[in-house]
Amino acid sequence: MTTFDIVIRNGMIVTATDKYIADIGINGSKIVDIGFDLKGHETIDATGLLVLPGGIDGHCHIEQEEADGTIHEDDFVSATGSALLGGTTTVVCFASHVPGRGLVEQFDAYRRKGANSRIDFAIHQIITRTDEQTIRDEIPVVAERGAAGLKVFMTYDDFHLSDGQFLQVLEAAHKSDILVSVHCENYDAIRHLILKHLAEGRTEPHGHVTSRPPCVEREATYRAMTMSELTHQKIQIFHVSCPEVAEEIGRAQSRGVKVVAETCPHYLTLTEEDLKRDGFEGTKYICSPPLRTKAAQEGMWQYIRSGVISIISSDHCGYTFDGSVGKGRHGRDADFSLIPNGMPGLGTRLPVFYDAAINSGKIDLTDFVRLTATTPAQRYGLYPQKGTIAPGSDADLVLWDPKKSVTITNSLFQSNIDYTPYEGRSVQGWPVKVYQRGKLAMDDGKLVAPPGSGQFLKAREK
Ligand code: URP
Ligand code: ZN
Ligand code: ZN
Repeated sequence: MTTFDIVIRNGMIVTATDKYIADIGINGSKIVDIGFDLKGHETIDATGLLVLPGGIDGHCHIEQEEADGTIHEDDFVSATGSALLGGTTTVVCFASHVPGRGLVEQFDAYRRKGANSRIDFAIHQIITRTDEQTIRDEIPVVAERGAAGLKVFMTYDDFHLSDGQFLQVLEAAHKSDILVSVHCENYDAIRHLILKHLAEGRTEPHGHVTSRPPCVEREATYRAMTMSELTHQKIQIFHVSCPEVAEEIGRAQSRGVKVVAETCPHYLTLTEEDLKRDGFEGTKYICSPPLRTKAAQEGMWQYIRSGVISIISSDHCGYTFDGSVGKGRHGRDADFSLIPNGMPGLGTRLPVFYDAAINSGKIDLTDFVRLTATTPAQRYGLYPQKGTIAPGSDADLVLWDPKKSVTITNSLFQSNIDYTPYEGRSVQGWPVKVYQRGKLAMDDGKLVAPPGSGQFLKAREK
């Protein structure tokens, strides 16, 4: 009888389709067998625990350079440590496209930065210009080098593309067979509303919400899907914040538009009321699209259950509250339009989503795995190496204690970021051990995987 390097014994294995109790045999970096009474040189008793595929977070801003030269404060070492502490073993993060530098140069440079990662990583390439070099020469090269997708923005001063530019990107992506993910908000409408707010002296953080109402997200989403329809190019709508937008996506899907969608735990667990917290505190909750109402939160679940929304990502954004390039970079009196957008969420993604989704019976455990690991792996060309528990797949495994209750506090995630929007929230369900490619990477809140343990993942054909 084979003796495996490691056997994970008697856990409840959960995949996107099944739940069953069995042993997992691991040799080197791979799962080799699933069965009963397997023998290992090392045996881990997982009785009473869930054994999940390592989480895959398909939307994380890590050590990303912005157009003004600032770099997100969460670097690869710190961000991927917090990922492991929360049960995530693969991230898909963003190479920027800043003025004066070509796409391929930036893709390659970002890949080199990722050499410090503790976990495996793939890369989305942001597109903010549509000059001939970018469209004709460089998009095919980054696709060939294994980018998981392209990301375009319909808003933000330094990033947004016009409809004509967006169409150019879609056509180039179609030729190179690469997914395009889109941040959908109407730039001009938001600009107009921001100026109106400032003229009326409405500078407080909550102005971020009222200057970006659901209709500006819904309109841009509809426009993005129209352009997808025109070019026959598949798109993904990133960070859907409310049911009005999800409804529009569902309608497009049912008439055959090639559109898929993700949302994030914060749209299911936090609300716009959080931006009204005392003084500058509200800026911790500024992200785009903004947090919505309790009713919107409730309305999102039907679109998660029906599959209109098929991925849960963190949209982790590594800005501190107190650091020099974080939320307070323009001072504590800055108006809402000057606050960097985004919230940290890599470490909290799985526990917060698990607690909201499973403990209240909103979805099944198999759905949880599908939304947080299997579909991201499939969408980004990483499946079946990642995203499932099967012979031949990487032994990226999370031993998850469904009974463990934890009160979230930022220090649990040991990152450069000095706050979590979930401070003080109690959740039930927590990762207790994480294996990455067959090696113990996190053990009961202790980081074991050193910086540099991760590998770049080239997206394969999807
Ligand atoms: O507010 C957000 N979401 N910041 C990160 C950048 C983006 O739009 O995804
Ligand atoms: Zn975005
Ligand atoms: Zn983002």
